[in-house]
Amino acid sequence: QCSSIPNAMKFDCYPEEGSTEDKCKKRGCCWAPAGKSQTENSSVPLDVPYCFYPQGFGGYTVHNITHAPTGITAFLKRSFKSPYPNDVPMVKMVIMYGNEQQLRLKLYDPSSPRFEPPYPEVPSLQKAVPQKDYRVEVDTQTGGVKIIRDANNITIFNTQNVGALILADQFLQLSSLLPSRNVYGLGEHRSSLRLPLDWQRFVMFNHDTVPTENQNLYGSHPFFLVMEEEKNSHGVFLLNSNAMEVILQPAPAITFRTIGGVLDFFIFLGPTPSDVIRQYTDIVGRPYFPPYWGLGFHLCRFGLHSLNETKEVMNRNRHAGIPLDVQWNDLDYMDSSNDFTYDKKRFRGLPEFVDHLHKIGMHYVPIIDAGVSAGERPGSYPPYDEGLALGIFVKNTSGEPFIGKVWNRVSTVWPDFTHPQTVAYWLKQLHRLHWQVPFDGAWIDMNEPSNFYSGTSSGCPNNNLEHPPYVPAVNGGKLFYRTLCMSSIQHAGHHYNTHNLYGFSEAIVTSFALTEIRGRRPFVISRSTFAGHGHYAGHWSGDVYSDWHSMEMSIPQLLSFSLFGIPLMGTDICGFNGNTTVDLCQRWMQLGAFYPFSRNHNTDDGIPQDPAALGPAVIESSRKALLIRYSLLPYLYTLFWRAHAFGDTVARPLFIEFPDDPETYGIDKQFLWGPALMIVPVLKWGETFVTGYFPKSIWYNLHTLGPVTAKQQSWHDITAPLDTIPLFYRGGHIIPLQSPNMTTTASRKNPVELIVAKDEDGKATGSLYWDDGDSVNTYEDKKYSHVTFTLNESRLRGTVVWWGYDAPLMLGKVHVLGIGIPVRSVYVNQVAHSFSYNSGNQFLRIKNLALPLNQNFSIHWV
Ligand code: NOJ
Repeated sequence: QCSSIPNAMKFDCYPEEGSTEDKCKKRGCCWAPAGKSQTENSSVPLDVPYCFYPQGFGGYTVHNITHAPTGITAFLKRSFKSPYPNDVPMVKMVIMYGNEQQLRLKLYDPSSPRFEPPYPEVPSLQKAVPQKDYRVEVDTQTGGVKIIRDANNITIFNTQNVGALILADQFLQLSSLLPSRNVYGLGEHRSSLRLPLDWQRFVMFNHDTVPTENQNLYGSHPFFLVMEEEKNSHGVFLLNSNAMEVILQPAPAITFRTIGGVLDFFIFLGPTPSDVIRQYTDIVGRPYFPPYWGLGFHLCRFGLHSLNETKEVMNRNRHAGIPLDVQWNDLDYMDSSNDFTYDKKRFRGLPEFVDHLHKIGMHYVPIIDAGVSAGERPGSYPPYDEGLALGIFVKNTSGEPFIGKVWNRVSTVWPDFTHPQTVAYWLKQLHRLHWQVPFDGAWIDMNEPSNFYSGTSSGCPNNNLEHPPYVPAVNGGKLFYRTLCMSSIQHAGHHYNTHNLYGFSEAIVTSFALTEIRGRRPFVISRSTFAGHGHYAGHWSGDVYSDWHSMEMSIPQLLSFSLFGIPLMGTDICGFNGNTTVDLCQRWMQLGAFYPFSRNHNTDDGIPQDPAALGPAVIESSRKALLIRYSLLPYLYTLFWRAHAFGDTVARPLFIEFPDDPETYGIDKQFLWGPALMIVPVLKWGETFVTGYFPKSIWYNLHTLGPVTAKQQSWHDITAPLDTIPLFYRGGHIIPLQSPNMTTTASRKNPVELIVAKDEDGKATGSLYWDDGDSVNTYEDKKYSHVTFTLNESRLRGTVVWWGYDAPLMLGKVHVLGIGIPVRSVYVNQVAHSFSYNSGNQFLRIKNLALPLNQNFSIHWV
């Protein structure tokens, strides 16, 4: 029973420290020292467990099972006392069919309600689904579940005789075999995009720490996606906000281990990876649609000590010709680091400055910290006094506001964003600042929530929430390490349950408040996130080091957030912590120009790193890359619309476009924007070439517009001079552009241009979504225009699908790539038109078109 179990199949029976043969056997488990011994250091990866469950361990037996058209219900009776207190004697297991590709598996205590996250609000699922792509088999002995893909009989989820199911009050665990080793997701962590399966432990507990490997970081996303051997894809989401660990082991298998709530899994059958993500955002919420200006370049830093300094930095970049849409300020702008104030001395004239930004088509985003100062003179700081009167601050166990400390000089309290009154409170505070400084977006920081104390100045009470029987391997070893006490109280429940939802709830309320205040689309960037966050806001990856490794790791991080339905994502360009270098920043500005959220930001004790501060090489590279970004914004914006409307990804791993090519499964040093643009950045110091993979397709070099002649489906060295980032258009696609300007406000007024990239059959398609870029609900209210473009051999057509945003929009220029034979004549709506043909790079250029896009058009050539 014990000796026949191969190492890869050993499921840890003693995840806490200090296991011994004796203690292990008392749990009814097998003992066989192998591999490295377990260690208490959370940053050390795991290895083969010494203590593991015997085959057929059981734990629960089926008591009663019913099958209905809407799903399966079973009652599982505990047959083995788990080592954790208060294990549930009778578990209810409900399998609910959502639709053909979706189901939910919920295991809970039917006799007493337990915490379940109030958001994201998920549909209940439980439909009679006549036709499903899957079938479910429940082991009538143990209640183990198999979910099988009908099309090929592959079992995608299998808990039958795998590890041990445990449902105790503060320890809930379920393991499943995985059908392949291609696993993605499980954020927020620093790791390769395809996750390692060699005993990896992913801890999810929102935490403020410098992003490094094997640490729990700012957000929690208990969602994973699998690329199966037969190239189908599926996904699994555990709706649970408690501190948890997810273990991947080489079986391959996965174990979810959480310390509260219920086990509530949503399973998505794809079958393509894009389908899986769509199905996931169906449940947790589709990405929100950011304003157009939010897709411009953003400039920030901690340590812009005055308005003068802010202006100086901004202006030197504008003068250097760096396109720039948004100027930011870190907490330097505040009076004594207090939210909703600004320093009237050092930042005198801030309101006028923001007015000026608006006049020149720019926007302004200040930081808003989660914690509110509790140490001001009574009556002198309304954000505290009003919150106190409303009773909306997170409370300690005696019902008083919970007091810790962040930037504020004396002490800090935290608004409870799950409290219904906090919505009006937060709106009022943001409004108070907005009356003075008419800012445009909110950068919500320190909302894990981060606390400079671990608990209060005197720690936390001694109880089972602060010291649960099992503590996941969180950074710092204690749950309350540099955050609030777990037994502090929020409207939705103990902080123990709601901790991972803090930043998410703040983002929801902030997004609502901004919309109320400005009457325009909100722009919110939050450090802390949870599943469903993309429906309200974006994210940046926190305080990364200014080093080459961090730049490289920003790509898998970006792409993982695409899988989580949070497309508005970026990393501090040139790095946050430490000093960047000219060489690093030159390459990072090029890569950062292709982060969907593109912001240069760094710490107050590093050197200035705005492009203009670092000299001509960085300026030139930044200009070049950002001008390309700005020219591509109509395409990027259309992708964001598709994300919002249909759940498509924006920055996209290659495997999403090429799921039939397993070579793409492990690629995370290059990526796509949508289906049509491939970005292959240089990530190594001093190199002037980069090896990139070209999946099966015709590719065109964006810089020359000529076809890539190298063999498809293979790796190639691409030359990349220091001032150039390799970029490729994909055949079969039509990409809308506009000439770039110094702001999106200006570039939006330019005529549209098209890049028409032919595929092998001489075909291509594409579209443009267009609206005013800033009003709320333009898509929902049909106040947009949508034009599709189709190339068939030598005829390009534009078709108006919907024209609901009636602003003049012209097509000015078209480039048709991949035309091997010289063109003799071009006709625009049947009328001959001038053109030029580039025989070296085989493209046709048609200029001076002035075709109104609210009418269908046709261009053909012979
Ligand atoms: C932490 C944030 O991650 C960082 O970006 C910011 O500069 C500092 N807080 C100061 O506000």
